[in-house]
Amino acid sequence: MSILLAADFDASEWAAWLPALQAALPGETLLRERTGDDIDIAIVANPPAGALHGLPGLKLVQSLWAGVDKLLRDPTLPTGVPLARMVDPAMNAAMAETALWAALALQRGFFDYAAQQRTGVWRQHGQRRADETRVAVLGLGQMGQTVAARLAQQGFIVSGWRTGSGPVDGVLAEADVVISLLPLTPATSGFFDRARFAQMRRGASFVNLARGAQVVEADLLSALDDGQLSRAVLDVFATEPLPTTHPFWQHPKVTVLPHVAAQTDPRSAAQVVAANIRALRSGQPLQHLVDRSRGY
Ligand code: GLV
Repeated sequence: MSILLAADFDASEWAAWLPALQAALPGETLLRERTGDDIDIAIVANPPAGALHGLPGLKLVQSLWAGVDKLLRDPTLPTGVPLARMVDPAMNAAMAETALWAALALQRGFFDYAAQQRTGVWRQHGQRRADETRVAVLGLGQMGQTVAARLAQQGFIVSGWRTGSGPVDGVLAEADVVISLLPLTPATSGFFDRARFAQMRRGASFVNLARGAQVVEADLLSALDDGQLSRAVLDVFATEPLPTTHPFWQHPKVTVLPHVAAQTDPRSAAQVVAANIRALRSGQPLQHLVDRSRGY
């Protein structure tokens, strides 16, 4: 049996992933294209819709991405086959670094100083301590928990919230910085809208490290423009790549990252994939399975 690697990789990504996966999976045949129907495992990274349709022997779909929302939207994704998402401690650590960078830069005003530099302004602002800065982490899965722990270690006052754990308004109202690590599901699509931004403390900042579709972008722009929010740090967008004409690019209160908060690292992720494939081959329980009814 062979393993299909179905991905929208560019040449440099193929060059990184294929050798890493092949080295982690000695004795396995890895295919970049469907050349027969003896495929029993698919390793996927944003596969084109329909890529896994009609593979009768499929026993495992292993995602290289942590978020499987796009995969679950593909109506041809085989329903009876276990689907595993990427859970990699190296990725959690990268996410925690990004969240820490954003929280520190917001706490200390470094985004404002970067803007001042562009116009040659020398102006000092007051210095706020981490233990005076309240950070709310929304989404307490593997990444959210790692992020919350790292921020608490840095001295921030951290609160957490997950979907289904009660009302979010009290959490939002207290926070100086709201960081989203929510999975994208029907319940979180459009979650950050005008009403949610209004529940936040006036002048709070919003950091989205999760999925762009959770934000009503026009409402975020209004909240920034009328001063309800003071800054947004965004790694993810409704449309990616972010269109060159999008107002976020030039907005003085928006920091744009090109979906790099936590990239999957082929070196460590290949080991995670290999462990699950070894489990399948030896009849052991599979790890990190997605509950399709929950959507993550
Ligand atoms: C990135 O966004 C991922 O889901 O891994």
